[in-house]
Amino acid sequence: MEVVIAEERTLAELAADAVERLLRTEAAPVLGLATGSSPLRIYDELTSRHTSDGLSFAHAQAFMLDEYVGIADDHPQRYRNVIDAQIAARVDFAPRAVHGPEGSAADLAAASAEYEEAIAEAGGIDLQILGIGTDGHIAFNEPGSSLASRTRVKTLTKQTRLDNARFFDGDVDQVPPLCLTQGLATIMEAKHLVLIATGGAKAEAVHQMIEGPVSAMWPATVLQMHPHVTVLIDDAAASRLQLADYYRHSYANKPDWQHL
Ligand code: F6R
Repeated sequence: MEVVIAEERTLAELAADAVERLLRTEAAPVLGLATGSSPLRIYDELTSRHTSDGLSFAHAQAFMLDEYVGIADDHPQRYRNVIDAQIAARVDFAPRAVHGPEGSAADLAAASAEYEEAIAEAGGIDLQILGIGTDGHIAFNEPGSSLASRTRVKTLTKQTRLDNARFFDGDVDQVPPLCLTQGLATIMEAKHLVLIATGGAKAEAVHQMIEGPVSAMWPATVLQMHPHVTVLIDDAAASRLQLADYYRHSYANKPDWQHL
Protein backbone atom coordinates (compact mmCIF):
# COMPACT_ATOMS: atom_id res chain seq x y z
CA MET A 1 0.00 0.00 0.00
CA GLU A 2 1.46 3.33 -1.04
CA VAL A 3 0.42 6.36 1.00
CA VAL A 4 0.78 9.81 -0.59
CA ILE A 5 0.19 12.85 1.61
CA ALA A 6 -0.23 16.04 -0.40
CA GLU A 7 -2.57 18.93 -0.99
CA GLU A 8 -5.91 18.23 -2.64
CA ARG A 9 -5.03 19.55 -6.07
CA THR A 10 -1.90 17.38 -6.28
CA LEU A 11 -3.86 14.33 -5.16
CA ALA A 12 -6.39 14.85 -7.95
CA GLU A 13 -3.61 15.30 -10.52
CA LEU A 14 -1.86 12.10 -9.39
CA ALA A 15 -5.08 10.09 -9.66
CA ALA A 16 -5.82 11.64 -13.06
CA ASP A 17 -2.27 10.74 -14.19
CA ALA A 18 -2.92 7.09 -13.35
CA VAL A 19 -6.26 7.12 -15.20
CA GLU A 20 -4.69 8.91 -18.18
CA ARG A 21 -1.85 6.38 -18.38
CA LEU A 22 -4.40 3.56 -18.46
CA LEU A 23 -6.56 5.26 -21.09
CA ARG A 24 -3.57 5.99 -23.30
CA THR A 25 -1.97 2.54 -23.06
CA GLU A 26 -4.84 0.03 -22.96
CA ALA A 27 -7.00 -0.90 -25.95
CA ALA A 28 -10.07 -1.62 -23.81
CA PRO A 29 -9.56 -0.09 -20.36
CA VAL A 30 -12.10 -0.61 -17.58
CA LEU A 31 -12.48 2.07 -14.92
CA GLY A 32 -14.23 1.82 -11.57
CA LEU A 33 -15.99 5.02 -10.50
CA ALA A 34 -16.87 6.12 -6.97
CA THR A 35 -19.59 8.65 -6.21
CA GLY A 36 -19.57 11.29 -3.45
CA SER A 37 -17.45 14.36 -2.74
CA SER A 38 -14.00 12.77 -2.59
CA PRO A 39 -13.40 12.06 -6.30
CA LEU A 40 -14.88 15.36 -7.54
CA ARG A 41 -11.54 17.03 -8.16
CA ILE A 42 -10.28 13.94 -9.98
CA TYR A 43 -13.30 14.04 -12.27
CA ASP A 44 -12.82 17.78 -12.85
CA GLU A 45 -9.17 17.17 -13.72
CA LEU A 46 -10.06 14.34 -16.13
CA THR A 47 -12.75 16.48 -17.76
CA SER A 48 -10.27 19.28 -18.23
CA ARG A 49 -7.73 16.88 -19.80
CA HIS A 50 -10.49 15.60 -22.10
CA THR A 51 -11.43 19.13 -23.16
CA SER A 52 -7.94 20.61 -23.43
CA ASP A 53 -5.65 17.67 -24.24
CA GLY A 54 -7.97 15.33 -26.14
CA LEU A 55 -7.88 12.62 -23.48
CA SER A 56 -10.49 10.17 -24.78
CA PHE A 57 -12.73 7.71 -22.92
CA ALA A 58 -14.35 6.46 -26.14
CA HIS A 59 -12.65 3.05 -25.94
CA ALA A 60 -13.24 2.60 -22.19
CA GLN A 61 -15.95 1.09 -20.06
CA ALA A 62 -16.73 2.10 -16.49
CA PHE A 63 -18.48 0.46 -13.56
CA MET A 64 -19.96 2.34 -10.63
CA LEU A 65 -19.50 1.03 -7.10
CA ASP A 66 -23.01 1.35 -5.75
CA GLU A 67 -26.54 2.70 -6.04
CA TYR A 68 -29.38 3.54 -3.71
CA VAL A 69 -32.30 1.10 -3.75
CA GLY A 70 -35.71 2.48 -4.63
CA ILE A 71 -34.62 6.03 -5.47
CA ALA A 72 -36.60 7.65 -8.33
CA ASP A 73 -34.94 7.39 -11.76
CA ASP A 74 -34.87 11.17 -12.13
CA HIS A 75 -33.73 11.94 -8.57
CA PRO A 76 -30.57 14.09 -8.77
CA GLN A 77 -28.98 11.99 -6.01
CA ARG A 78 -29.52 8.70 -7.78
CA TYR A 79 -25.89 7.67 -8.17
CA ARG A 80 -26.38 6.99 -11.86
CA ASN A 81 -27.39 10.65 -12.30
CA VAL A 82 -24.62 11.87 -10.00
CA ILE A 83 -21.94 10.03 -11.96
CA ASP A 84 -23.36 11.35 -15.24
CA ALA A 85 -23.18 14.91 -13.90
CA GLN A 86 -19.74 14.48 -12.33
CA ILE A 87 -17.90 12.71 -15.14
CA ALA A 88 -19.74 10.38 -17.55
CA ALA A 89 -21.64 13.03 -19.52
CA ARG A 90 -18.70 15.46 -19.46
CA VAL A 91 -16.37 13.21 -21.45
CA ASP A 92 -16.78 10.97 -24.50
CA PHE A 93 -17.75 7.56 -23.17
CA ALA A 94 -19.57 5.51 -25.80
CA PRO A 95 -23.32 5.03 -25.24
CA ARG A 96 -23.97 2.36 -22.57
CA ALA A 97 -20.27 2.16 -21.65
CA VAL A 98 -20.91 3.32 -18.08
CA HIS A 99 -22.59 0.67 -15.96
CA GLY A 100 -24.22 0.86 -12.54
CA PRO A 101 -25.99 -1.58 -10.22
CA GLU A 102 -29.74 -1.60 -10.97
CA GLY A 103 -31.13 -0.26 -7.70
CA SER A 104 -34.69 -0.18 -9.02
CA ALA A 105 -34.72 -3.83 -10.18
CA ALA A 106 -37.66 -5.96 -9.01
CA ASP A 107 -35.22 -8.79 -8.22
CA LEU A 108 -32.23 -7.21 -6.48
CA ALA A 109 -30.41 -10.51 -5.99
CA ALA A 110 -30.61 -11.22 -9.73
CA ALA A 111 -29.51 -7.65 -10.51
CA SER A 112 -26.51 -8.12 -8.21
CA ALA A 113 -25.49 -11.36 -9.93
CA GLU A 114 -25.91 -9.73 -13.36
CA TYR A 115 -23.68 -6.86 -12.28
CA GLU A 116 -20.93 -9.25 -11.23
CA GLU A 117 -21.26 -10.99 -14.61
CA ALA A 118 -21.04 -7.69 -16.48
CA ILE A 119 -17.80 -6.78 -14.70
CA ALA A 120 -16.35 -10.22 -15.49
CA GLU A 121 -17.45 -9.97 -19.14
CA ALA A 122 -15.65 -6.64 -19.45
CA GLY A 123 -12.48 -8.41 -18.30
CA GLY A 124 -12.47 -6.99 -14.75
CA ILE A 125 -11.72 -3.50 -13.53
CA ASP A 126 -8.26 -2.11 -14.27
CA LEU A 127 -8.33 0.93 -12.01
CA GLN A 128 -10.88 1.48 -9.27
CA ILE A 129 -11.32 4.93 -7.72
CA LEU A 130 -12.49 4.72 -4.10
CA GLY A 131 -13.57 7.06 -1.32
CA ILE A 132 -13.94 6.03 2.31
CA GLY A 133 -16.76 6.64 4.77
CA THR A 134 -16.16 8.02 8.26
CA ASP A 135 -17.08 4.54 9.55
CA GLY A 136 -14.50 2.90 7.31
CA HIS A 137 -16.84 1.71 4.55
CA ILE A 138 -15.67 1.44 0.95
CA ALA A 139 -18.41 1.42 -1.66
CA PHE A 140 -21.30 0.82 0.76
CA ASN A 141 -19.70 -2.09 2.59
CA GLU A 142 -20.59 -1.00 6.09
CA PRO A 143 -18.91 -2.27 9.29
CA GLY A 144 -19.63 -5.98 9.68
CA SER A 145 -19.52 -6.62 5.92
CA SER A 146 -17.97 -9.93 4.98
CA LEU A 147 -14.46 -9.47 3.65
CA ALA A 148 -15.49 -12.06 1.02
CA SER A 149 -18.68 -10.23 0.01
CA ARG A 150 -19.90 -9.79 -3.58
CA THR A 151 -22.41 -7.33 -5.04
CA ARG A 152 -25.56 -7.40 -2.89
CA VAL A 153 -28.12 -5.36 -0.96
CA LYS A 154 -26.79 -3.60 2.15
CA THR A 155 -28.46 -1.52 4.83
CA LEU A 156 -26.76 1.85 5.33
CA THR A 157 -25.67 2.71 8.86
CA LYS A 158 -27.18 5.68 10.65
CA GLN A 159 -23.74 7.34 10.44
CA THR A 160 -23.57 7.00 6.65
CA ARG A 161 -27.10 8.32 6.27
CA LEU A 162 -26.22 11.27 8.52
CA ASP A 163 -23.04 11.88 6.48
CA ASN A 164 -25.03 11.78 3.21
CA ALA A 165 -27.93 13.91 4.45
CA ARG A 166 -26.02 16.92 3.09
CA PHE A 167 -27.00 15.73 -0.39
CA PHE A 168 -30.70 15.42 0.63
CA ASP A 169 -31.48 18.94 1.93
CA GLY A 170 -29.86 18.03 5.26
CA ASP A 171 -32.74 15.62 5.96
CA VAL A 172 -31.50 12.17 7.04
CA ASP A 173 -34.98 10.69 6.52
CA GLN A 174 -34.72 11.37 2.79
CA VAL A 175 -31.53 9.26 2.50
CA PRO A 176 -32.59 5.82 1.24
CA PRO A 177 -31.95 3.11 3.85
CA LEU A 178 -30.84 0.43 1.38
CA CYS A 179 -28.30 0.21 -1.44
CA LEU A 180 -26.83 -2.20 -3.93
CA THR A 181 -23.08 -2.26 -3.60
CA GLN A 182 -20.11 -4.09 -5.01
CA GLY A 183 -18.77 -6.39 -2.32
CA LEU A 184 -15.34 -6.22 -0.74
CA ALA A 185 -14.21 -9.28 -2.71
CA THR A 186 -15.52 -7.65 -5.91
CA ILE A 187 -13.46 -4.52 -5.22
CA MET A 188 -10.40 -6.59 -4.31
CA GLU A 189 -10.39 -8.08 -7.83
CA ALA A 190 -9.67 -4.70 -9.46
CA LYS A 191 -6.04 -4.51 -10.56
CA HIS A 192 -5.23 -1.10 -9.06
CA LEU A 193 -7.15 0.60 -6.26
CA VAL A 194 -6.81 4.37 -5.87
CA LEU A 195 -8.46 5.66 -2.69
CA ILE A 196 -8.78 9.38 -2.06
CA ALA A 197 -9.71 10.93 1.30
CA THR A 198 -9.50 14.50 2.54
CA GLY A 199 -10.46 16.30 5.73
CA GLY A 200 -10.18 15.52 9.43
CA ALA A 201 -13.50 13.66 9.55
CA LYS A 202 -11.80 10.82 7.63
CA ALA A 203 -8.66 10.71 9.82
CA GLU A 204 -9.70 7.84 12.09
CA ALA A 205 -11.01 5.70 9.21
CA VAL A 206 -7.79 6.36 7.26
CA HIS A 207 -5.64 5.42 10.29
CA GLN A 208 -7.58 2.18 10.78
CA MET A 209 -7.45 1.34 7.06
CA ILE A 210 -3.67 1.71 6.84
CA GLU A 211 -2.47 0.87 10.34
CA GLY A 212 -5.25 -1.02 12.10
CA PRO A 213 -5.83 -4.78 12.25
CA VAL A 214 -7.74 -6.26 9.31
CA SER A 215 -11.31 -6.51 10.49
CA ALA A 216 -14.87 -6.35 9.20
CA MET A 217 -15.39 -3.61 11.80
CA TRP A 218 -13.32 -1.31 9.53
CA PRO A 219 -14.10 -2.74 6.09
CA ALA A 220 -11.44 -0.68 4.27
CA THR A 221 -8.76 -2.61 6.19
CA VAL A 222 -9.27 -5.41 3.65
CA LEU A 223 -7.21 -3.25 1.26
CA GLN A 224 -4.13 -4.23 3.26
CA MET A 225 -4.43 -7.60 1.49
CA HIS A 226 -4.39 -6.08 -2.02
CA PRO A 227 -1.07 -5.97 -3.94
CA HIS A 228 -1.58 -2.56 -5.57
CA VAL A 229 -3.29 0.14 -3.52
CA THR A 230 -2.58 3.87 -3.69
CA VAL A 231 -3.95 5.97 -0.83
CA LEU A 232 -4.11 9.70 -1.63
CA ILE A 233 -4.74 11.87 1.45
CA ASP A 234 -4.33 15.44 2.58
CA ASP A 235 -2.71 16.53 5.86
CA ALA A 236 -6.01 16.54 7.75
CA ALA A 237 -6.93 12.99 6.69
CA ALA A 238 -3.36 11.93 7.58
CA SER A 239 -3.47 13.53 11.03
CA ARG A 240 -4.01 10.26 12.96
CA LEU A 241 -1.35 8.23 11.15
CA GLN A 242 1.43 6.83 13.35
CA LEU A 243 3.90 6.50 10.47
CA ALA A 244 3.05 9.70 8.58
CA ASP A 245 6.71 10.80 8.52
CA TYR A 246 7.75 7.47 7.02
CA TYR A 247 5.08 7.70 4.28
CA ARG A 248 6.19 11.26 3.47
CA HIS A 249 9.85 10.19 3.36
CA SER A 250 9.09 7.16 1.14
CA TYR A 251 7.13 9.20 -1.36
CA ALA A 252 9.70 12.01 -1.45
CA ASN A 253 12.43 9.46 -2.25
CA LYS A 254 10.47 7.37 -4.69
CA PRO A 255 12.41 6.38 -7.82
CA ASP A 256 11.44 8.36 -10.93
CA TRP A 257 10.64 5.21 -12.93
CA GLN A 258 8.03 4.04 -10.44
CA HIS A 259 4.46 5.15 -11.20
CA LEU A 260 1.64 5.08 -8.70
C1 F6R B 1 -19.78 6.16 -3.14
C2 F6R B 1 -19.02 5.31 -2.25
C3 F6R B 1 -18.77 5.67 -0.84
C4 F6R B 1 -18.10 7.04 -0.69
C5 F6R B 1 -17.90 7.37 0.79
C6 F6R B 1 -17.26 8.71 0.99
O1 F6R B 1 -19.87 5.56 -4.43
O2 F6R B 1 -18.61 4.31 -2.68
O3 F6R B 1 -17.95 4.70 -0.24
O4 F6R B 1 -16.87 7.00 -1.34
O5 F6R B 1 -19.15 7.35 1.42
O6 F6R B 1 -18.13 9.69 0.52
P1 F6R B 1 -17.62 11.19 0.32
O7 F6R B 1 -16.61 11.14 -0.73
O8 F6R B 1 -18.86 11.94 -0.11
O9 F6R B 1 -17.09 11.62 1.64
